[in-house]
Amino acid sequence: MAGYKVLIPQNVAEEGKNYLREQGYEIKMGSGVTSDDIAKDVADCDAILARTAAFPATVLDAGKGLKVIARHGVGFDNIDVPRATELGIWVTFTPEALTNTVAEYTIGCIIALARNFIRFDRELRTGNWQIRDKMTGIDLAGKVLGVVGLGRIGRCVAKKAALGLDMQVIGYDPFLKPEQFGELAIPAKTWEDIFTASDFITLHMPGTEATRDMVGKKEFEKMKKTAYLINAARGSVVNESDLIEALRSETIAGAALDVYRKEPPEMDNPLFTMSNVLLTPHNASLTRECMVRLALHAAQGIDEVLSGRQPTWPVNRPIQRR
Ligand code: 8YV
Repeated sequence: MAGYKVLIPQNVAEEGKNYLREQGYEIKMGSGVTSDDIAKDVADCDAILARTAAFPATVLDAGKGLKVIARHGVGFDNIDVPRATELGIWVTFTPEALTNTVAEYTIGCIIALARNFIRFDRELRTGNWQIRDKMTGIDLAGKVLGVVGLGRIGRCVAKKAALGLDMQVIGYDPFLKPEQFGELAIPAKTWEDIFTASDFITLHMPGTEATRDMVGKKEFEKMKKTAYLINAARGSVVNESDLIEALRSETIAGAALDVYRKEPPEMDNPLFTMSNVLLTPHNASLTRECMVRLALHAAQGIDEVLSGRQPTWPVNRPIQRR
């Protein structure tokens, strides 16, 4: 589509950029990731390929010719979707690109926590061979995995844990009827039950106003002292101060975190000094293969909107196209 310009504030896989170039789009790499940078960069653009930077109303308002924002990912909490809809800007996302990749990451965390991989590695590097007799791991077969949010990723984690690790999976999802849980997860009767019964709890709900601070002191106090929390969803869904306190007081055994209240976290965040946490830099979906899928699916969304077609993965449906 000659004449249309796509802003890419944060780099993506070459395959996505090539796809856009092949369709005739001009690519403009952004000058920065602050809202001021993006507001300036978007002025002459028709589309944005959006990663983790924020896209508030000020940015959308500055894009006078903006027709589509394609989110490179499944969460769209960094985009003011209601404002986009008002302005006639489509928002698309890439829900099918990363399900298996994030589920693999989650299973990796469960195994790493159960077997203390990170702690053993740290200790052995300091010469502590005897740690092998002082700290033991746990088996996963027969243990209870609580999955909060049984959307695409939660269901994929449930399947891998049940069929691959022989775990007993229980699930919580207020949007599903018990018969919709399928064979791989038993519905938890109440919100509390999922915390009291699980040996591992993994969070897969979206970051919205309704899920903000959904897991905090009350939930940690319900958890077994031997239980672990995994959060590859959004930092906003866990009260991070309560989590730090629960880890410090050994109310829970440990956690694996890919997401934080503030990203990147401040270097004086107490999580960095704790040995019972496994930390990764919001990269659960960033494998080589997934990066290609994310970029291609986002590029597809841009092309669909700019060429007047219905997007395959819409987040909103503006009444009037720009
Ligand atoms: C990011 C994510 O999209 O899909 C999501 O919502 O959190 C991530 O996969 C990715 O890091 C940004 O490109």
